[in-house]
Amino acid sequence: MRQFLMVVAFTLLTVGLFAGYSNFGIPQIEPAQPPKQEKIDLGAMTMDKFIALGEKIFNGKGTCTLCHNNLGRAPMLGGTAGLVPKRLVDPRYKGEATNVEEYLIESFVKPSAFVVAGFGKKGTNDTVSPMPDVSAGSIRLNDAEIKAVVAYLQDSGGAEVTVKIPTDAPEQTEQTEGEPRAPFETPEQAIAELGCGACHKVATEEGEVGPDLTKIGGLRDKAYLRQAILDPNADITEGFEKDQMPPDYGAQMYAQELEMMVDYLAGLK
Ligand code: HEC
Ligand code: HEC
Repeated sequence: MRQFLMVVAFTLLTVGLFAGYSNFGIPQIEPAQPPKQEKIDLGAMTMDKFIALGEKIFNGKGTCTLCHNNLGRAPMLGGTAGLVPKRLVDPRYKGEATNVEEYLIESFVKPSAFVVAGFGKKGTNDTVSPMPDVSAGSIRLNDAEIKAVVAYLQDSGGAEVTVKIPTDAPEQTEQTEGEPRAPFETPEQAIAELGCGACHKVATEEGEVGPDLTKIGGLRDKAYLRQAILDPNADITEGFEKDQMPPDYGAQMYAQELEMMVDYLAGLK
């Protein structure tokens, strides 16, 4: 904790020192390695590799772990595959799946077909899910990626892996170590790539887990917004809970991106 506070303090100091200078010469905070597009030869892929690909997508591009983690924002999915037979006969189930594979795919793209008790959108009595359709919006997984995640959830849930490795998908993504990524060029791009829209209504995104940011500039100043991104628990917006927003955006963004984001949010009135 102490170390974390020191890192935050240092980051704030660095940002403060350089915010006054022109955009050139701003030092870059070392960011986490972002996902990199890479072609994968599906034809030569084994099921083990396909499952491993699904795990990478789950933890990376899919942004699933923003919510499916041990902080209680969303249910853990380790046992979900095993629960499906019960879900399918649950009177609250509104979908069309007939087996585990279909149920999982449906839950990714039509999350409200079944809403796990206690996790529905506020005020909807568990009829509407706060989870976004992961085939659309900023997450936008393609069919092959969705199948890979299904394979991963079936395998890790101890269920039979029934998905077939698709052979016709042109492109896959994989997280690779490599060059530091190029900085995001626009705030909209940063918002999309960093997954803010999974939780916030902002830019073209419609997330509902966190506060609506479309008029945030009228409510908060730049210093507050900077802190809200770097240290979300420092002040909790009324009506929301702590430990919901990921605390590590400071490590994922370059300093210039943080300032670009803060300027953008401050301008939303
Ligand atoms: C913005 C937060 C959020 C993100 C991002 C998110 N989920 Fe969810 N997810 C939830 C919540 C909340 C629930 C519980 C409500 C419901 O049943 O829809 C849920 C439910 C589910 C369920 C159904 C569980 C069950 O027992 O029926 C599955 C499967 C699932 N998510 C998979 C995923 C995958 C895979 C991803 C990433 C590609 C993902 N989710 C991304 C919030 C999220
Ligand atoms: C997993 C969900 C989640 C993600 C992803 C997320 N946030 Fe948040 N955010 C929240 C929640 C919940 C709150 C309210 C609780 C709090 O104040 O920490 C919040 C609060 C905020 C606030 C303060 C709002 C206010 O009313 O003062 C800002 C600004 C903000 N987020 C910006 C961002 C930006 C920018 C990103 C992407 C870089 C992002 N958030 C990603 C969930 C999320």
